Amino acid sequence: MDSDVLSPAAVAATPGADLDWWRTAVIYQVYVRSFADGDGDGTGDLAGVRSRLPYLASLGVDALWFNPWYPSPLADGGYDVSDYRDIHPMFGSLADAEVLIEEAAELGIRTIIDIVPNHVSADHPWFRAALEAGPGSPERERFWFRPGGGEAGEQMPTDWVSSFQGPTWTRTSNPDGTPGEWYLHLFTPEQPDLNWNHPDVRREHEDVLRFWFDRGVAGVRIDSAALPIKDARFPALPDSPGPGEHPHVDRDEIHDIYRAWRAVADTYEQPRVLVGEVWLEDAARFARYLRPDEMHTAFNFDFMTQPWDAAAMRASISRTLAEHAPVGAPATWVLSNHDITRPVTRYGREDSGFAFDRKRFGMPTDVERGTRRARAAALLTAALPGSLYIYQGDELGLPEVELPVELIEDPMHFRSGGVDPGRDGCRVPLPWERAGASLGFGTDDARSPWLPQPGTWAALSVAAQEADPASMLHLYRAALAHRRSDADLRAGALTWLDLGDHAIAFRRGDAFASVTNLGEGPIALPAHHSVHLTSSPLADGMLPPDSTAWLAIEPPSGESATRRTTK
Ligand code: GLC
Repeated sequence: MDSDVLSPAAVAATPGADLDWWRTAVIYQVYVRSFADGDGDGTGDLAGVRSRLPYLASLGVDALWFNPWYPSPLADGGYDVSDYRDIHPMFGSLADAEVLIEEAAELGIRTIIDIVPNHVSADHPWFRAALEAGPGSPERERFWFRPGGGEAGEQMPTDWVSSFQGPTWTRTSNPDGTPGEWYLHLFTPEQPDLNWNHPDVRREHEDVLRFWFDRGVAGVRIDSAALPIKDARFPALPDSPGPGEHPHVDRDEIHDIYRAWRAVADTYEQPRVLVGEVWLEDAARFARYLRPDEMHTAFNFDFMTQPWDAAAMRASISRTLAEHAPVGAPATWVLSNHDITRPVTRYGREDSGFAFDRKRFGMPTDVERGTRRARAAALLTAALPGSLYIYQGDELGLPEVELPVELIEDPMHFRSGGVDPGRDGCRVPLPWERAGASLGFGTDDARSPWLPQPGTWAALSVAAQEADPASMLHLYRAALAHRRSDADLRAGALTWLDLGDHAIAFRRGDAFASVTNLGEGPIALPAHHSVHLTSSPLADGMLPPDSTAWLAIEPPSGESATRRTTK
């Protein structure tokens, strides 16, 4: 057996035999660089995650999703991967990852890792070889090298626009120093796009999946999953492309990739799970990724981008459930991630929805109101049918941090000409303790965290919140514990309750109800036996604004009521 072959322990590293675990799972997103620093160098690492596994178990999560943890020059926070079969030395070693996967599994927690099919790092051996080998070489065929337009090839081959703003092509130099071909990168120049028409690219990714699945990884989160296939004729961007007509988004051929990946995932006795990062407005096109032989789930960004508004959020929930139903896939509920303004900040702003192009420095924010709403949103999303994602630190109610510009590393900031603060403000290292140089992120003698934590975060630290029964952390823990033990909440169908324009209210199964008040004044709750949980204290039995209550209610009537009494 060579080192690529799994240990018996790793084979068993996917806990439990519940093959449908992903349908209702609570998945906690770990941004390793900012979670916990085990070796004191100011950067989070796998040793840090291992030391905090008991915390994650006590929170009650079913799985961890790790942002890319591979060797990388970090031109885009690790989404520029130079070696898929290793761990960034800053985070630890492959052996550390194997132990982490096993230790998590022993606590009943599965591991999901990030796979980035659209591009690799410019530092990846394939891209280096392609640059070296020069125009017309087979090495260049794994990427998209093209001659430029204009008399001297000085014009970019297409007018395609980067997801990070700015150009999508960078010109290379020939070995003799003269200007050469251009290569395509939908993100930064340090992230060259792969050519998915090339068999090496397909084979390599399937091998990488097996590499990690064999180590007990329970699933993969697929980065920028709608982008990898390009129209190889490289047409100009059409004004309003119809379904499947965009030259590099959601092309029909993309589904073959995920069908092949699903086949790999299904060869395991405990089938591995595919979760897509699919940003598409067209609900029908989105659902196509979730057909039974493709991905298991995909992130539901529609809900996350909605403003704090009952009608908008209710419509998004209905839309989401309706679009998933025909393909039999569960919805996912996501309040944020490592790319998105933290909910506490977002919901405390006048413009409480989310769009990348609306991010600015210095937007007025009412953090107290945002926190109240984020608590209400946490209960609301945890009560919806499907799986739930929690981005690290949201369970502590951390706000977005406005960092001094000289500390920002995110390319989105630079490529916007400095207008967009970028995404580092939601990637600030977690506060664990009330005191100490890094609030327990690292040991006391550790180097300063790679991004500075605001002093006010002492009060938001895990230690501070453990001691406060009214804290966000206690709310999350209670909600997840309840979600686990309440059969209606886990499996019951959703039925809307009408409590007026400003409420989002629904029953799950027979005897559970969730009510969120998005209006200006308190609202009366429907008849109930007891209150399981509220995000803010009730006032004279009324639900205050910006709050959610979970209730034990009377079963409707008739058959289901009878069924309930015999439970
Ligand atoms: C995804 C990631 C984001 C990254 C981009 C390019 O959207 O979530 O962080 O910058 O893909 O890989």
